Amino acid sequence: MAGRSVVVGVGHYLPERVVPNSEFEKTLDTTDEWIRTRSGIERRHFAADDETTSDLATKAAEAALADAGLEADDIDAIILATSTADLTFPSAATMVQARLGMTKGFAFDVQAVCAGFVFALSNANALIVSGQAKRVLVIGAETFSRIMDWTDRSTCVLFGDGAGALVLEAQDGAGTAQDRGILATDLNSDGRYRDLLYVDGGVSTQSTGHLRMQGNQVFRHAVEKLAKTAETALSHVGLSSADVDWIVPHQANIRIIQGTAKKMGLPMENVVVTVQDHGNTSAASIPLALSVGKERGQIKPGDLIVTEAIGGGLAWGAVVLRW
Ligand SMILES: CC(C)(COP(=O)(O)OP(=O)(O)OC[C@H]1O[C@@H](n2cnc3c(N)ncnc32)[C@H](O)[C@@H]1OP(=O)(O)O)[C@@H](O)C(=O)NCCC(=O)NCCS
Repeated sequence: MAGRSVVVGVGHYLPERVVPNSEFEKTLDTTDEWIRTRSGIERRHFAADDETTSDLATKAAEAALADAGLEADDIDAIILATSTADLTFPSAATMVQARLGMTKGFAFDVQAVCAGFVFALSNANALIVSGQAKRVLVIGAETFSRIMDWTDRSTCVLFGDGAGALVLEAQDGAGTAQDRGILATDLNSDGRYRDLLYVDGGVSTQSTGHLRMQGNQVFRHAVEKLAKTAETALSHVGLSSADVDWIVPHQANIRIIQGTAKKMGLPMENVVVTVQDHGNTSAASIPLALSVGKERGQIKPGDLIVTEAIGGGLAWGAVVLRW
């Protein structure tokens, strides 16, 4: 017997405003064609001026709770992955806790940029298997539109806003790779790569700042590190790429997604792709893709899924789970 963290609900929320690539042609020296061919992105959603990360997160959480058939007070903990919280403090997670009407348990944010959801899932799993929580709401939510430099065509066309959420529940498994739930995780970071992807501001430097990226350098690290972390996580439970039904990758760039799948020896038929519709929503991209993948009828109970992500830090990792 082994304690497992099993997904019992999933949901997402995207802000109403959809921005096609052609919008950027009006203000920047760019084209729809360049953005599509270099990144795979066709459109993205941007939050309204009065809409914050905790607003998006609350709606995604409500959808996941409804999918699970649970109430807020059935949840013991909320972990919210974000780099774009509403306020310096309190955490966006505690704001969501209050908005859901949850009066017990605890809530906190996790900040690992685009790898945030993988870090949050791994932390939630640790709480569940150690018996500290029975049900954990794990959310990824971002408003990256708030940290874009709208004059920098090499970054501002790539990102979007959104939120996704999962409900994880403690269940008994046989202790084999056939169990439902989270089977393995692999987390990494290397702070020496700070300058490749960062925001040039923050509380202690007294500004909000804008996202800065050496895109081609990040690209180079991404494919290699993502394939390796996915394979490492799979190997922890004696599995390999050949066992995988779905790669649900961080949705940053279609060429990174294709390169990683190829390195893992899997065809694109085994990859959930949403980057064309969402852009890069950082920590929200994996739960969004899980929710959309389920809605599309791609992800089914019993499927073996590997999620993988890399972002600022650099920080990267993977989670293997059976749906
Ligand atoms: C950003 C990215 C799409 C750029 O594609 P690329 O093929 O690497 O292109 P480069 O950065 O080498 O730039 C090539 C040229 O395109 C130009 N360019 C950049 N953005 C452009 C845009 N929106 N429209 C038109 N031209 C653009 C550059 O200025 C450069 O021009 P130059 O050769 O005259 O200097 C790509 O590097 C990438 O996706 N990297 C990973 C980024 C990422 O996903 N990060 C998030 C990880 S969480």
